[in-house]
Amino acid sequence: MKLLITFICIISIEIAKQHCVVSAWSQGGSTITSRGATIQHQLPTSSSLFSSTQSNDKDDITINSNNGELERLKKEEQRLSSLLDSIRQQKLAVLRSRPLSIGIVGFGRFGQFIAQSFTKYGNVVGTSRTNYTDVASEMGVKYSLTLDSFVLDEDLDVIVLATSIVSFKDTVFELVPLLEKKMQLKGAGSYPLIVDVASVKEHPRNILLDLLPEECDILCTHPMFGPDSAKNGWRGQTFVYEKTRINKVILDPDFEGQENQLDISEEHVEGMDRMERFLSIWEEEGCNMIPMACSDHDSYSANSQFITHLVGRILGIQGLKATPIDTTGFQSVLRLIETTNADSFDLFYGLYKYNRNSGYTIGRLRGALDDVVGALLQRDGVVGVFDGGNRKSDDDAK
Ligand SMILES: *[C@@H]1O[C@H](CO)[C@@H](O)[C@H](O)[C@H]1NC(C)=O
Repeated sequence: MKLLITFICIISIEIAKQHCVVSAWSQGGSTITSRGATIQHQLPTSSSLFSSTQSNDKDDITINSNNGELERLKKEEQRLSSLLDSIRQQKLAVLRSRPLSIGIVGFGRFGQFIAQSFTKYGNVVGTSRTNYTDVASEMGVKYSLTLDSFVLDEDLDVIVLATSIVSFKDTVFELVPLLEKKMQLKGAGSYPLIVDVASVKEHPRNILLDLLPEECDILCTHPMFGPDSAKNGWRGQTFVYEKTRINKVILDPDFEGQENQLDISEEHVEGMDRMERFLSIWEEEGCNMIPMACSDHDSYSANSQFITHLVGRILGIQGLKATPIDTTGFQSVLRLIETTNADSFDLFYGLYKYNRNSGYTIGRLRGALDDVVGALLQRDGVVGVFDGGNRKSDDDAK
């Protein structure tokens, strides 16, 4: 009998616990729907974890029964934890009242493009190999001539790496010793959030995870637009991101909201808050915010962004030109050639080289061309390989 009662008690505690976990998870889920709201919800989420624990303990108390001293200590614990919560909230409010300092490494066309919008939300500092002092000062951005002074002399909350994909690794190699030097001078709290904005995602993610000190938080993003496609503003443009690491914990990109479960330490809450504040810039500008694992991004983009560039380059080499009788379809073909060839060959190469799905996409395009031509030949009853050259001269002879 006694055994049975104990058993029932254990079961009911387990059920209570599971209830807590579920409620905390669903609270974490609110992160996805509204970023602005998340910042507000961050602390209530952790405090609700506290209070959930408390309700467990109440069950405990009824089981152990009339232990007055324990009851008193629990109440004191509750009082202190809500006091701690309120102090944390005040601290975050102070942090938020101070604008973010955002550094941008690589101040080329794209770096300048994002810097322009960032100036509405915080202090922006740029650096690059080229001296862009004049361009920067025109848009209200401070400019550092060297990466050394950029890291060591500025107190940056966020560093955005806006270099090309091909030079990404070298940039991180240069950055790491400077971050470490800064940490020795200013303490571990000086590590900025590192953000990448490259058009492939697994490659920079792996480099950042491999090379950065583990105290550095990482956010991998791909703004799927640029100075040409979004010259009239960012509203409605797609912004893909993966919250990769916060407070030394690598997050599972397939389940946003889990972070509250893993870690509700002060460092985690502050790291998350900083990340959310940076993301809210894109949200405020009207971007369509898409949380997505880096690996999923790359498999989607090989069959969308890369193939667009590939076809644009192929048609460009074919030397197509506007004619007096262009159809609207052909006009969009010409537009495709123009926009894809306007981007640097470095970008095109980067999309190929650093996305492991791109080779497969090329193979499929080749196969598809053979299939389509094969269908034409079959209709004519021809068996064998299409001989484009002969066919063309036949036509010319007519
Ligand atoms: C960078 O450009 C600014 C503005 O044109 C100029 O005053 C400065 O001397 C340049 N610095 C270097 C190191 O070239």
